[in-house]
Amino acid sequence: MQRTQVAIIGGGPSGLLLGQLLARQGIDTIVLEQRSRAYVEARIRAGLLEPGTVELLHTAGVGARLAREGLVHEGFELAFDGRVERIDLKGLTGEAVTVYGQTEVQRDLGEARDTVGRPVIYEAEEVRLSGLDTGHPRVRYRRGGVEEEIECDFIAGCDGYHGVSRQSIPADRIRTYERIYPFGWLGVLADVPPVSHELVYANHARGFALCSMRSAHRSRYYVQCPLDDRVEEWSDARFWDELRARLPEAYAARLVTGPSIEKSIAPLRSFVAEPMRFGSLFLVGDAAHIVPPTGAKGLNLAAADVRVLCDGLVDHYRAGSDLLLDEYSTRALRRVWKATRFSWWFTTVMHKFSDEIFAARLQLAELELLGESRAAAQAVAENYVGLRFRRAEHESR
Ligand code: FAD
Ligand code: PHB
Repeated sequence: MQRTQVAIIGGGPSGLLLGQLLARQGIDTIVLEQRSRAYVEARIRAGLLEPGTVELLHTAGVGARLAREGLVHEGFELAFDGRVERIDLKGLTGEAVTVYGQTEVQRDLGEARDTVGRPVIYEAEEVRLSGLDTGHPRVRYRRGGVEEEIECDFIAGCDGYHGVSRQSIPADRIRTYERIYPFGWLGVLADVPPVSHELVYANHARGFALCSMRSAHRSRYYVQCPLDDRVEEWSDARFWDELRARLPEAYAARLVTGPSIEKSIAPLRSFVAEPMRFGSLFLVGDAAHIVPPTGAKGLNLAAADVRVLCDGLVDHYRAGSDLLLDEYSTRALRRVWKATRFSWWFTTVMHKFSDEIFAARLQLAELELLGESRAAAQAVAENYVGLRFRRAEHESR
């Protein structure tokens, strides 16, 4: 039998970030991850960090490479109807976002964990949670054919949408809300210079496209595609032709293409589970909520949950107060629903849902308004850089 204060299920960004912040406060954790380290560190996912997430990574002591290599973006562009509007994040909010791949965040957190003296237990199989409502939670798992057991005070369910944590909550103690969008994103990573120094989100009659990047030499591009498309149907040439067709002329003309180094299709989904706590179990990140990637909120929401939970656990162990822990779900969900709204709105405005002209005209009106009304642009900018913790905290009091 092993013993720890907080058992963390899942060694993705939420699990490792929580473990790191708690370690710095002298709180002991065991992290269980079902996959191998190589697998977890190779996954290509999000790319954009809100300033609040950047701050939190610095607090966790993993901000050095991020500060050196992250690309600070003070705005982004919206392409539609043959023109381009820039959302001036800095001018509208005083803040900027940072382009730094989730792969890099994962690597930095993994290296930091190596120095904690409690290495992540990778390839943990058949993880099972019990005693969640008894005050004496237990985690059982198998590793290399051997059955293991952990006794702990709390469990942090950081095991993503398909994880075991949410599924361990009795069905009558949790409610879920879901919307599945009728399309996916085909993403390509390529070692070519980005088409623009800022992100470009394009609304086009052929469907949505996004030009993002990982560095000055590595681009990340996406096109909206039918849900049932398979990656094998998309040769590199077909992808580049489709992307070019959806970009404004000037951008299409300077698009540099090259062989893809990764290509994948992701479905788009909104999902929220409430409450984010059952007894000693706290759900964190994708285990509790999923947003479509249009607003770049997934990883940032996970980090925001981690911050709220970490504050609660520190208060529990340091001050003997459970006030913050008891507020965890309410406080986290306030931000979650606002990010769910923004991600849904941005997805709705940018994608092609049907051939209906009325819908296309409304999208055009929404996008035009952003160029004409500072208030409208500011609302988008505030959501994009992330509603600040201090404001979210203030609201919850
Ligand atoms: P995850 O990253 O899912 O980590 C959960 C971890 O738990 C995983 O390592 C998993 O292996 C492990 N696990 C699962 N089950 C168990 C178990 N039973 N026992 C032990 N461990 C378990 N967001 C954006 O903002 N932009 C994007 O472009 C973007 N693209 C994405 C593409 C894909 C394919 C996916 C799945 C997500 C994407 N996201 C994107 C969302 C973003 O990556 C997530 O919000 C973020 O990874 C959430 O972190 P997490 O740690 O909560 O969950
Ligand atoms: C990415 O770079 O992968 C990315 C950036 C912004 C988004 C979504 C994905 O909105």
